[in-house]
Amino acid sequence: MKKTVLVSGGAGYIGSHTAVELIAAGYDVVIADNLSNSDCSGVEGVRRITGVEVPFVEVDCCDKEAFARVFAQYDFDSVIHFAAFKAVGESVADPMKYYRNNLLSFMNVVDLMREYDRHNIVFSSSATVYGEPDELPVTELSPRKPATSAYGNTKQMCEDILRDSVAAYDSLRAIALRYFNPIGAHPSALIGELPRGVPQNLVPYITQTAAGVRECLSVFGDDYPTEDGSCLRDYIDIVDLARAHVAAIDRMTSGDATERYEIFNVGTGRAVSVFELVHTFERVNNLALNHKVAPRRAGDVMAVWADTRRANEVLGWRAERPLDETLRSAWEWEKYVRKL
Ligand code: NAD
Ligand code: WQD
Repeated sequence: MKKTVLVSGGAGYIGSHTAVELIAAGYDVVIADNLSNSDCSGVEGVRRITGVEVPFVEVDCCDKEAFARVFAQYDFDSVIHFAAFKAVGESVADPMKYYRNNLLSFMNVVDLMREYDRHNIVFSSSATVYGEPDELPVTELSPRKPATSAYGNTKQMCEDILRDSVAAYDSLRAIALRYFNPIGAHPSALIGELPRGVPQNLVPYITQTAAGVRECLSVFGDDYPTEDGSCLRDYIDIVDLARAHVAAIDRMTSGDATERYEIFNVGTGRAVSVFELVHTFERVNNLALNHKVAPRRAGDVMAVWADTRRANEVLGWRAERPLDETLRSAWEWEKYVRKL
């Protein structure tokens, strides 16, 4: 019998790619999303890529009664919970919006899993929990630093809620995946990242600049004590990231998990500078990107990248897609969206 996975926030960037990889791996998928930061094109893209008429329920996970109907209607044993707001700057300006949405939706999932006797949950955490690390690369045992944004705080709080819930309720098993910097798009160019308004993240800003939607990319700081003066990050390909979720679900549903709550870094293990990313984008797509150096951005950490050994060895997962290919896919997606 096929196993079914509920993907909350599955119309969004990471959720839609994960839905595709789950289906490729033989799972049935149900997508639940309130389309607050997405539209139906994500679900349509999943259906076109897979040829499967994936069920989609438009629902706010914060509305417990409405969300409960999804649990009553569908027979899944695993949930991947992506549904959250993710704009760091907005969360500083309007923290309650973030605490309400990200915490309430998450607590409803945990409650409903217990009420409806569902067992496995994967939670979207973030490298943001490490803050400015004392040692690099960061391992899952590296200390979490006090969050500098409400967004980051919701990730730490949800991790803690998950740890405490698993400890208290025997029926639950959980994996938290700490994503580094997800970038790129599906090779079909039918799904990808759809930022609203001015992109805050580097790669969508680059692709929109290349498309002529933005005039010029600002490189935030060239005076960091790094080789070329710009910040270092661990850019993880979106399809690789999606497959990490499949590995997490496989691990829980097969009974391989040794602990009931586990945490994994999901990155490449490689540090890439902003300039290296820009120049790689230019080279692989054969174009020149209008960019200039600007002052450092408040709140940026200088460098963070993952020690991925735990994910490699325990989860049996590793990042595979080369950066060249990822940055080509990001540009193909932008061209598709802009009809270029
Ligand atoms: P996204 O905005 O593209 O997807 C999130 C989806 O959740 C959207 O489709 C949105 O409409 C939906 N949603 C939000 N609140 C909801 C609610 N209350 N009920 C139902 N649906 C709701 O973002 P993404 O990049 O795909 O991120 C997915 C998850 O991964 C988020 O939890 C995010 O915090 C986390 N994450 C993202 C990154 C990143 O850089 N993209 C990095 C680390 C962690
Ligand atoms: C990457 C690098 C910028 C834009 C954020 C969140 C984090 C996680 C991933 C959710 C940095 C530089 C950027 C630009 C630039 N999300 N940059 N010009 O800040 O590492 O992480 O997204 O969990 O929580 O904080 O990602 O893509 O914004 O920046 O020079 O226009 O690109 O300074 O060095 P970040 P990013």
